[in-house]
Amino acid sequence: MTAAGRPRAEAARVPWIVGVSGASGAPYASAVLGGLLDAGQPIDLVVSRAARLTILDETGIALRDRHWKEDLTAWLGREISDVRYWPAGDLAAGPSSGSYPAHGMVVVPASTAACAGIAIGLSKDLLQRAAEVNLKERRRVVVVPRETPVSRGHLQDLIALIDAGAVVLPAAPAFYGAGAGATAGQLIDFVAGKVLDAIGVPHSLFRRWSGQLGGGSAAG
Ligand SMILES: Cc1cc2nc3c(=O)[nH]c(=O)nc-3n(C[C@H](O)[C@H](O)[C@H](O)COP(=O)(O)O)c2cc1C
Repeated sequence: MTAAGRPRAEAARVPWIVGVSGASGAPYASAVLGGLLDAGQPIDLVVSRAARLTILDETGIALRDRHWKEDLTAWLGREISDVRYWPAGDLAAGPSSGSYPAHGMVVVPASTAACAGIAIGLSKDLLQRAAEVNLKERRRVVVVPRETPVSRGHLQDLIALIDAGAVVLPAAPAFYGAGAGATAGQLIDFVAGKVLDAIGVPHSLFRRWSGQLGGGSAAG
């Protein structure tokens, strides 16, 4: 207790919130989640309703709210440590409030619908609400859109997100060094590594540019 009789402040768990929305690109989400786990970062996970369809389509895994731990372990193919899962419909969940501790949020992949919703503060589900909250709290928010081609409206939503303080990091892998020989895993890890760079989390998902052309190094 403090002299004023209040409970003494304790070091809070401060997670990164990861929102997975219904754009194609579940492997990007799994690589970012894996990178955060490797770095020992606590994670709060929100998966939109539409993302369940893309995850099912791309991995064969049906992510269930009640069995999320089992399903997430199967999806990531590894043991998961400090992960808290919040159903997307739970608008009373921790990340829906700015008073809930968080370093910030990554939306990966980000659907055009999620980008639009976050850009206008729609908060139609917990993913959009949490992103909105982290923007208003001036925390790091990284959005990884995946759509092509894009309309003027999509681009305007991305500009609105940048104006609100987000980092817009399109799922656009580079082919440094490896060219057409780059594997899907390398391309996925490149995007995930750029996400981790954007939030300042150390990783070894790609080799950094060394200044040597044709050196087979990935960098960006
Ligand atoms: C298999 C599948 C793939 C999809 N891929 C994309 C995509 O790459 N980019 C995108 O913006 N929307 C994509 N969509 C559409 C979104 O899922 C849809 O706009 C949805 O409303 C997004 O909701 P959310 O933002 O709440 O996740 C896809 C839908 C399905 C079923």
